[in-house]
Amino acid sequence: MPRILWFGHILPQIDDENSLLSLCDVAVPQAKLDAAVPLSIVPDSGSGFMGPAALEGHRAGVHFACAFQMEHLEQSASSIRFVLLDAVAELRMSVEFVLDSESSVLKIHSQLENTGSSEFSLHKLASATLPIADTFTECLTLNGRWGLEFQQHRSVISATQLRIKNMSGRTSHEYFPGCVVGQQHFNAEHGQLMGVHLGYSGNYELTVERLTTGEACLQVGLAILPGEINLAPGAVIDAPALFACAADGLNQMTQRFHQFARRHVLPQWTRTPRPIHANSWEALYFDHDEHALLALVDAAASAGAERFVLDDGWFHGRRDDTSGLGDWWVDKTVYPKGLHTLVAHIRNLGLEFGLWFEPEMVNPVSELYKNHPDWVLQVAGRNTPLARNQLVLNLGLVAVRDYLYKSIAALVDEYKIDYIKWDMNRDLVLPGSSGKAGVVEQVNGVYELLDRLQSAYPNLEIESCSSGGARADYGILARTGRVWTSDCIDPIDRLSIQRGFGLFFPPEIMGAHVGHDVAHLTGRATNLQTRAIVALQGQYGYELDARNITDEERQQLMFYAERYKQYRAWVAESSAWVVPTRDAALFVQGQVSLDRASSFWTIVASSSLETNLPERVRLLGLAEDKPYRVIATGWEALRSFGKHTPDWMVNEVVVSGAELMNIGLNLPVMPAQSALLLDCSQA
Ligand code: DGJ
Repeated sequence: MPRILWFGHILPQIDDENSLLSLCDVAVPQAKLDAAVPLSIVPDSGSGFMGPAALEGHRAGVHFACAFQMEHLEQSASSIRFVLLDAVAELRMSVEFVLDSESSVLKIHSQLENTGSSEFSLHKLASATLPIADTFTECLTLNGRWGLEFQQHRSVISATQLRIKNMSGRTSHEYFPGCVVGQQHFNAEHGQLMGVHLGYSGNYELTVERLTTGEACLQVGLAILPGEINLAPGAVIDAPALFACAADGLNQMTQRFHQFARRHVLPQWTRTPRPIHANSWEALYFDHDEHALLALVDAAASAGAERFVLDDGWFHGRRDDTSGLGDWWVDKTVYPKGLHTLVAHIRNLGLEFGLWFEPEMVNPVSELYKNHPDWVLQVAGRNTPLARNQLVLNLGLVAVRDYLYKSIAALVDEYKIDYIKWDMNRDLVLPGSSGKAGVVEQVNGVYELLDRLQSAYPNLEIESCSSGGARADYGILARTGRVWTSDCIDPIDRLSIQRGFGLFFPPEIMGAHVGHDVAHLTGRATNLQTRAIVALQGQYGYELDARNITDEERQQLMFYAERYKQYRAWVAESSAWVVPTRDAALFVQGQVSLDRASSFWTIVASSSLETNLPERVRLLGLAEDKPYRVIATGWEALRSFGKHTPDWMVNEVVVSGAELMNIGLNLPVMPAQSALLLDCSQA
């Protein structure tokens, strides 16, 4: 069985494969099996492997354990596909590894075929099992909750199994589908590591464990509900693709994943300059009123918005969150003439038009549910618990997908919609389809519907939102292309949310809006400067009620909007750099253009710093021998917190990349929640 002996930086050509195999021959301890069963690419219990098997299932109670053998392999310059056969259990497994040499990201795709003449019940299917280097002792996962997604957690890789099992039916707020394993204390700049990400928006399982042989392994793949997958004779199932990358330090890993996502995952439209959004949600919630909206559009446009997004509340019967989902036509009581007046106003001001949908859901109080109560995921005889008063439509059904496609397409055609905010606001509970578990079919159905829309409307931009960031993964992002990162737009909480998100996803697809002075989710008050600077880390936009801001605030927003427009010309091809800091409350990060001629840096004190003065910060990723001009924004507002401001902030300086990357810059006194923006471009 094929084994992975090394996944890391490129080694010199291996001349003598037999010597290498001899080097990696495995000893056999006493009191265990008589022959070694090392970790293979498809570990199986039938051959005596005692760790996690890649596949579990049975054929009417028999063939409960598999034992595969190599059937054949196919190879090209950048890929290798192993085809393995278990002639007894009558299963064929193929595992393909494709290395993208530009980004160094490895894509692993596994497929299982039932070669027998009866049904095979599948309980578990791993996308990949990878060895973890012996020197790797730490595991970083991203965990969270609604309003605080993508939080970084460290665990020690020890004798106990580390296991994430996400059964929420979506990518989830709680468990990001991926992790980073690496040397102790690996950080942005240092430490060998391996990052993995499962490109999938449904149930999955991830385990990391060290076996008694000393080998450690990481396994990620589909989590299957009881009875969910019964493979018919000849049927094939694809495991979701796993993306893996070895790197030295998190920055290198991040840059590689970003490059890969830009070239091989994200829709083409994400490569064009990303417009400044203004979204109606936090300004109006369900309080839709045409006059208020026209005024909001005017106000947002005068603060630099380029696309207006009409959020939840516009469709039939949707006066609050108790009703309406499923009835995708414009509410005549609020918009007697449809959305034409509003859309014409938006376009007259030169803005694009975006509309909110939550296609996968239905309220029991809706025309759709009244007419098709059988269209929801459910289990006969049980009450499905409601979440936000809604149930989930069964997208495994062609009729449901057709209904949704037609409803959405009709509105796209009528209003020439430029962008859809595609929301999905609940976990799946009792996801039954004709009585059987149907999450895998549901996720495939969502993908199919999005693919259909994408091929009919290639220029239609779609954002993935799921009560914020509960559906961010390369599976959905191949069909969407922007993520509403979190419902929390408190800039202080956003620092860790955006940093976690940024590990795997590039900044140009990260929705980051300037919110109100007092954040609606946290009640925290912050100043506009900090809110805007933190929003500049992603796709800049507005969630605040621009009707109620002062002229000075409008000018400030315009100033940052102009900066954003300047940066977006190169940011979609840039490298992300996180600067490690001694004080965890000081967040420093930047984007450097491909040619290293331009860069910008956000520096934020999330809370009071440990010392009177912030530590000196270095910039990263610049050209050592080139002169840079450093211009700081925001220092004037901090002047009163100290007696002296470092000279370079007041009087522009030109220094070399080497100086900035080694000696660094002294900062002014930075109180809690203050922020600075540095523009550092070649002079
Ligand atoms: C949840 C989203 O995350 C919000 O931005 C907003 O669109 C609401 N849903 C609307 O119901």
